Amino acid sequence: MDAITIAIDGYSSCGKSTLAKALAVKLGYSYIDTGAMYRATTLFLIRKGLHPSQEKFEQNVIEQLKDIHLSFKYNPSTKGSDTYLNSENVEVEIRQMSVSNMVSDVSIIKEVREKMVAIQKKLGKGKAVVMEGRDIGTNVFPDAELKIFMTADLEIRMQRRYDELHSKGMLVSMEEVKKNLESRDYQDTHRKENPLIKAEDAIVLDNSDLSRLEQLEYVLKLIKNL
Ligand code: DC
Repeated sequence: MDAITIAIDGYSSCGKSTLAKALAVKLGYSYIDTGAMYRATTLFLIRKGLHPSQEKFEQNVIEQLKDIHLSFKYNPSTKGSDTYLNSENVEVEIRQMSVSNMVSDVSIIKEVREKMVAIQKKLGKGKAVVMEGRDIGTNVFPDAELKIFMTADLEIRMQRRYDELHSKGMLVSMEEVKKNLESRDYQDTHRKENPLIKAEDAIVLDNSDLSRLEQLEYVLKLIKNL
């Protein structure tokens, strides 16, 4: 079968990365986590002392963009790729709550999106890629051969994110996780520039009651039937 492009979009913490990574390993494709790019950009801005509550926040962000260089490197121990910001591995730091709490305010900025989307198009131009995010099937690769729109119950997503953060030693409360997920869901679906919406030709995958293996097998079957 010819190499294809697989676009996975959906809400925060519904298991997009887990499924995308497993698919990439199974198919020998590359895996691109586009949320990590928005997160690394946000981390850079935090380090520069920028915050959405400040006057001229958007203008200051745009001025910083030229100094942000993003790349990915395969990490054999996680079987995924680590995110690099100006040659520094920031894979762990970009998952912190300080980044999660600001990333949606950064990703609404048109110039930020233009920069990220240009990189994503370049990374995926040779196909054989599983790319996950919010606007992959609608905006980055509208011609992707397979588009999955993932969702899961909020309670389940909260528990997953809570467990993930605690396993990494980030001891946040369930209330904080809930607030963050709800506010990101809202901002991601209501922003002007390429909001999170299901592409018309995307297949909805609600994984509230599905194991990782069941999800993988379901998508592999879809690929076989393409
Ligand atoms: O997938 P994630 O939770 O790591 O993504 C972090 C944020 O980045 C998400 O809340 C919105 C933004 N994002 C986006 O706007 N477009 C994408 N394609 C991916 C992520």
